[in-house]
Amino acid sequence: MRTDLLDIEVNRFRLPEPASISAEVASARARDLLDLPPDQEPPISRAALAAALWRDRSVTNEELVAAAERRLATRRPQINAFVPLYTTNHCDSECKMCGMRKGNPRLIRKYAGKKELEEQLEILYYHEYVRGVIFLTGEYQDKYARLSTAFRIGWAIRQALDMGFQRVHSNIGSMESDEIEVLGEWVGRDEPVGIAVFQETYDHDSYRRFMGEESSDVPKADYARRLSTFDRWIDNGFRHLNAGVLVGLHDNVESELVRLIAHVTHLRRRGAIVDVSLPRMRPASSAHNNTWLDDDEYLRMMAAFAYSCPDQRLVLSSRENEQFQDRSVGLCGVVSPGSPDVAPYQRDGAPLNDEESSQFIAGDLRRPRETLLRVRDGGRDMGFFEYPKENPLVAEVGS
Ligand code: SAH
Ligand code: TRP
Ligand code: SF4
Repeated sequence: MRTDLLDIEVNRFRLPEPASISAEVASARARDLLDLPPDQEPPISRAALAAALWRDRSVTNEELVAAAERRLATRRPQINAFVPLYTTNHCDSECKMCGMRKGNPRLIRKYAGKKELEEQLEILYYHEYVRGVIFLTGEYQDKYARLSTAFRIGWAIRQALDMGFQRVHSNIGSMESDEIEVLGEWVGRDEPVGIAVFQETYDHDSYRRFMGEESSDVPKADYARRLSTFDRWIDNGFRHLNAGVLVGLHDNVESELVRLIAHVTHLRRRGAIVDVSLPRMRPASSAHNNTWLDDDEYLRMMAAFAYSCPDQRLVLSSRENEQFQDRSVGLCGVVSPGSPDVAPYQRDGAPLNDEESSQFIAGDLRRPRETLLRVRDGGRDMGFFEYPKENPLVAEVGS
């Protein structure tokens, strides 16, 4: 029997039926709600606010983007920087949109060991000047592989913190309590360590369609284990989270926004600091793409989220090209350049992003510091990016 979505309850949180807030949405006039100061809650729920803003097209995209930028203007730092480091492209899952899925015979599998990870961290620190890093892996089926991955990523996190990275996240799929414990042995709870687990889609049927049937031996097909991971992470004493929806899996944007915001609001009430990603689908090795949201609609989705949740930083990744980055960066609180290839960074050049070993093909293939410098030179102050203000070439010598 299939679990009904509404039967999943974690720490007294249940995902709302999108229809349950329709009265709230109907009562709202989007235009009357465009001048909220950053610290004032709206008269309706945040989820309903986002739905109303998304829906009411008498408010133009330009008006909505301007309102969101106004509401976020005092947030500091304006932008935090994170770069992903894929530590392997082995995976036991079968997500249809992803090049790393187990059944993709075309992918050349890679695994970075101690030396390679240390080299990559050194490049990111001394040549890209970033102080935020995210470690990635696939998601594994048997307990031994899951625990070993938790242990290895724990080691990598420790290494990054000891080098001076100021924020370190892991992005390794769902985690059970014993796995969080094994990872957690490497770090103190006062250290700036977070976890990213995007639900991808909150719609159970779309989730099944892309990630597989619950009863299968596919680890990521377990919707409930994924949804409840953040609560276990918080239970273990950590505070930093990165939630998200992969835009393109489910075509009803409004229902995704409503349930994402309900989830994130629950986590925030438990004391967590939550960044939010709305990654847009990219081409990947022998993978299937679904619906595509065009630039204007996607920008509206981002603006509706950013306006409704000013204390959740929206993440802009190098899936988006330079042009779209320029249009949307004012809505974001994190810029995350980099490549989804295994250990792709180079001392003297752009990162690698080979189709035959990458999760997908990025939209911006510049080296991370170039992407970040453009954002900084646009006049934004940045966290976790320490490109020297003057004479960077001097710093480059000897590092
Ligand atoms: N294996 C881990 C890490 C995922 S990689 C996990 O599944 O949780 C980070 C994110 O990349 C995924 O959560 C998904 O949202 C996104 N992603 C997967 N395939 C993609 C594609 N073809 N284009 C863009 N993003 C993709
Ligand atoms: N969890 C991150 C994400 O998918 C990993 C990531 C950050 C990333 N920046 C990226 C992947 C840039 C590819 C390209 O958003
Ligand atoms: Fe594996 Fe993650 Fe890709 Fe799914 S999205 S196939 S779990 S790497």
